[in-house]
Amino acid sequence: MFSRVANPQTVITAGKHAKTICTSAQRNAKVAVCGASGGIGQPLSLLLKNSPLVSELSLYDIVHTPGVAADLSHIETRAKVAGYNGPEAVKECLKGADVVIIPAGVPRKPGMTRDDLFNTNAGIVRDLAQAIAEVAPKALIGIISNPVNSTVPIASEVLQKAGVYDPNRVFGVSTLDIVRANTFVAEAKNLDPAQVNVPVIGGHSGVTIIPLISQAKPSVEFPPDKLKALTERIQEAGTEVVKAKAGAGSATLSMAYAGARFAFALLRGLKGEPNVIECAYVRSNVTEAKYFSTPLQLGPNGIQKNLGLGKLSDFENELLKAAIPELKKNIEKGEKFVNK
Ligand code: 2OP
Repeated sequence: MFSRVANPQTVITAGKHAKTICTSAQRNAKVAVCGASGGIGQPLSLLLKNSPLVSELSLYDIVHTPGVAADLSHIETRAKVAGYNGPEAVKECLKGADVVIIPAGVPRKPGMTRDDLFNTNAGIVRDLAQAIAEVAPKALIGIISNPVNSTVPIASEVLQKAGVYDPNRVFGVSTLDIVRANTFVAEAKNLDPAQVNVPVIGGHSGVTIIPLISQAKPSVEFPPDKLKALTERIQEAGTEVVKAKAGAGSATLSMAYAGARFAFALLRGLKGEPNVIECAYVRSNVTEAKYFSTPLQLGPNGIQKNLGLGKLSDFENELLKAAIPELKKNIEKGEKFVNK
C-alpha cells in the first residue's frame, strides 16, 4: 500500500544518469521554497535542484537568497534557479508555482516545544499564505514551519478568507515522522530501512504523533514494553535532535530529506503517476480533529483519496485518544490567530 517509488533516493541520485532515465518525468514544474536560506531551506533546495522532476526552482527568503540561488544555479541539472530577497519580492517568487514548500521560521532550542514557536512562526506562515492566495492560488502547499498542527489551520483560514481555499491542496509535512519510524523499526529488526514502511498518523508533535507499527510493511512484532519505548522514541525524535544540537537548532538535514520526499510525491501526483501515497496532515473528516494526518493518495489536484486510519491495535487506539484533545487545542489556537 505504501509505495516507496516516492523514495527520493531514486530521484536524488540525479545527475546526468537520472536525467536520462527520467525523460518521461520531464514535465515542467515550478517549485517555490519559502525560507530557502535557512537550515532546512538550503539542503531542501539542493535536493530539489538535483531532481529531474523540477524545471524551475524559485527561492524566497528575507536574507541571503541571491547567494543561495547563485550557488545552486551552477549545478548541472535542468532546473532554472531564481532567488528573491525580502518581503517585497515574495509574490514574484510565487507566481506560477505548481508546488510551494514552506520551511520558513525559527527552530526550537533545548527545552522548547514546537508550540513555543507559535508567536514567531504563526505570522510568517499567515503572510506567506496571503501572498500564495493572491498569486498562486492553485499551488499545492507543503508546510514544514512549526508548530505544523497550528500552521496548517492558519494557512487554511487565510486561504479561506481570500476565497481560494481548496482543502485538497494544503498539507502539513509530517513525512519526517514516517522516515524516523521506518529507520527505527528497521534498526530494531535488522531490516533495510528503504524496504520498511510505517504509516504515522495524527499530528506533528509529541503525543499527536501516532506511529501505526501494527500496519508496518513488512509486518513486525514487538513485546509491549519495546513497542511503548519505540513509539515514544518516534514521538520525541525531534527533541532528540534538538538536545543533540545543544542550542544550534532542530532537525535540518533529515527534515530537508523528508520535505524533498514529500515534494517529489506531490510532483509525481501532479503529473498523473498512479499510486502515489504519502501520509500528511490535512483537513480531514476521519476523526473528531478538523485536521489530521493519514495516508493520502495524491493526484493532479492534490489529495485524490484519503485512505483513512486502517485497522488500529488497542495500543494505537489509546494513542489516538490521547492525541485528539491536544490536536483540537492546537487547531483552535491557529484558527483563533487568524480570526482574532
Ligand atoms: C522535527 O520533527 C523540526 O519538527 C521538526 O524535528
